[in-house]
Amino acid sequence: MARKIDPANAAFDKIIGERRSHRKFTEKIPPDEMIESIIRAGLHAPFAASAIGSRDDYFRRFIVIRKDSKAMKELIPLVYAEVVEMRDNLANEVKKNADLQNRAASFMNRLNAINSMGMVPGVGTAPFYIVVTEKKGFPPVELQSLAHCLENMWLKATALDLGFQIVSVTTQMAENARFCSILGIEKGTWALMGCAIGYPAETLSPSIRPSVREVTTWLE
Ligand SMILES: Cc1cc2nc3c(=O)[nH]c(=O)nc-3n(C[C@H](O)[C@H](O)[C@H](O)COP(=O)(O)O)c2cc1C
Repeated sequence: MARKIDPANAAFDKIIGERRSHRKFTEKIPPDEMIESIIRAGLHAPFAASAIGSRDDYFRRFIVIRKDSKAMKELIPLVYAEVVEMRDNLANEVKKNADLQNRAASFMNRLNAINSMGMVPGVGTAPFYIVVTEKKGFPPVELQSLAHCLENMWLKATALDLGFQIVSVTTQMAENARFCSILGIEKGTWALMGCAIGYPAETLSPSIRPSVREVTTWLE
């Protein structure tokens, strides 16, 4: 007898398969309610309770920056300058370290490409750039916690047929005084991650991955 497929389970698998990195967005602006529902999904993600401890203020915050806004115009050159600095520092490091040169080659290419573009993809290229912040705790697991949050947001955006792009250079902005001041957060207190959200300008295939058998070992 064929097993009955639970529609919620099937819908969940569909969303998992269709979650992709979108890097081109249309000009159409998603309604604020959609963005709020994506943030709600992020809030429901797990967090490292014992690392955070008891706090009076909530430890996870979302800062939404609209394309072409005053804040966005200020943030764009700040983030670009950070990437250029990262590239220059890495270029100096790899000169002294052949092993690092090999390991960092692909990342270096990415930094060089951003340098040539004169802008950072995801910052000002989609209707929304969202910075998600998490208070630093002990042990320092806030970036892992943020990854869970961003994944929930990504899946929700996919369910809403929105495009989503991780903007990981946002993490590097945590020690940038001007960036933190524009966001209204205290420098040094928060870990950051970012994403860009909008309607996708192109249709991507579902994600392609190796089979479970290829990558799984069951121990007896
Ligand atoms: C930790 C992490 C950082 C990432 N940073 C970026 C980024 O800064 N910009 C970007 O476009 N994609 C970024 N990505 C997306 C990956 O490149 C993408 O997930 C991967 O190529 C697989 O493609 P898919 O998401 O379409 O399945 C990041 C993903 C992870 C997990």
